[in-house]
Amino acid sequence: MQVVDKPRLSVIGLGKLGSPMVAVFGAKGFNVIGVDINERFVQTLNEGRAPVTEPQLQEYLERAGQRVRATLDFDDAIAQSDVSFIIVPTPSGADRLFSNRYVVDAIGKIGRALSRKQDYHLVVLTSTVMPGATGGAIQAALERASGRSVGQSLGLCYSPEFIALGSVIHDILNPDLLLIGESDAQAGDLLEAIYAQTVESRPSVHRMNFVNAELCKLSVNTFVTTKISYANMIADMCDHLPGANADVVTRAIGADSRIGLKYLKPAVGYGGPCFPRDNKAFAALGRALGVDCCLAEATDQINDHQIQRLAEAVAASTSPGERVSILGLSYKAQTSVIEESQAITLALLLSKSGYPVTVYDPCANAASSAVLGNTVTVAGSAAEAVGEASAVVIMAPWPQFAEVSWNCGVNRPEQRTVIDPWGIVTSVPGIRLIRPGAGDWRRSVAPADSSAPLRFGSR
Ligand SMILES: NC(=O)c1ccc[n+]([C@@H]2O[C@H](COP(=O)([O-])OP(=O)(O)OC[C@H]3O[C@@H](n4cnc5c(N)ncnc54)[C@H](O)[C@@H]3O)[C@@H](O)[C@H]2O)c1
Repeated sequence: MQVVDKPRLSVIGLGKLGSPMVAVFGAKGFNVIGVDINERFVQTLNEGRAPVTEPQLQEYLERAGQRVRATLDFDDAIAQSDVSFIIVPTPSGADRLFSNRYVVDAIGKIGRALSRKQDYHLVVLTSTVMPGATGGAIQAALERASGRSVGQSLGLCYSPEFIALGSVIHDILNPDLLLIGESDAQAGDLLEAIYAQTVESRPSVHRMNFVNAELCKLSVNTFVTTKISYANMIADMCDHLPGANADVVTRAIGADSRIGLKYLKPAVGYGGPCFPRDNKAFAALGRALGVDCCLAEATDQINDHQIQRLAEAVAASTSPGERVSILGLSYKAQTSVIEESQAITLALLLSKSGYPVTVYDPCANAASSAVLGNTVTVAGSAAEAVGEASAVVIMAPWPQFAEVSWNCGVNRPEQRTVIDPWGIVTSVPGIRLIRPGAGDWRRSVAPADSSAPLRFGSR
């Protein structure tokens, strides 16, 4: 190690998580070299601009200033750094398990650069990998390419971040826990010291072997998604129970410290690049090991069912041929990412079922147009989207949606229904407001002779 106090860092992968890591480390006084195979990302970062969209990213890059630079050249980055964080994609394969191919490619290049360097180097894998991967194929690839054995002049850690898009900078700075899977104490000590100079919260630190850390990361995500599906299951129950209200129920049970309120909120299903794939990977791992992981599969089934619930809420108030507007297309507010977004699935389902659909999102209109094509009309504002709609569904709780004038464009307010799974709209006189999980909407608006709700597609 050349500098004990502030080791020089490199971050391999400058995407949605890597770029914020570069910015935060730089802002905290570390010299950081970003590496990517995407020339545009490297050039953008070298011009001092954020390669990806994320709140506070530009601000933190500006705080980092000259301490941050980027390169396409692994040899340069490894020679000029003491610690390398790898944060490249680990996409799900057909078998539902996470693929290591990008990690192995990056680690091969790091290893070859290390074979031309003498000093101690720590490699930290931040990308999410399957249990067994770090100490298996990944360590083997690193040792093969570098000609060194992990443990002496080469440290290896598996240390995933617990972040959500839209609050990545905040989440990196304020973790509840630091998870460090380590090859040896020297590697873990160094990584813990870097985190200690970076985070602003007082996280509990959990150091362990690789496989325990890999299982922890997957288990955190599958547990959180189980809470979301549990809340949505209660909401579904409340839809069918006269007088029941899922908000009242979840607020009370979440007050029990054994349960907790976080993520116990009935709304829409989860989406995005991580949550939907984690239960599938967990269940696939269980199958491979001969372990029954039906809880993970049930969590996903309940999540998929949320599209059906929302489609039924639309059908209970509007007929095919009448326009439905969807506000919020990204999988959550404050991000443009539409991967596995239930809003996109709902738009396609409604369109296929004969509803003209208008969509609007504050920052995901372009990405959504590319996927939805001409099956929907894309509006330039929330007001425009609401304008001619018989029913409006609020799929992501952007704060500005609470300010929309819900009766604009209709002569008689009762001609419009607002479906608000997040509960962000306070009552608007005359407009029919449906809060799935509350308010007896199935009984008050379903046709009297319809005992079976209209079904769309299949689960
Ligand atoms: N995005 C999230 O919400 C999130 C949350 C937690 C964990 N993760 C995990 O973080 C990892 C990265 O996710 P992301 O969302 O930042 O991905 P991303 O696709 O946004 O970015 C990955 C970057 O890595 C670069 N890259 C690919 N191969 C490379 C190589 N061999 N060398 C150098 N750069 C390379 C790509 O060009 C891209 O810029 C994944 O394992 C993911 O599961 C993501």
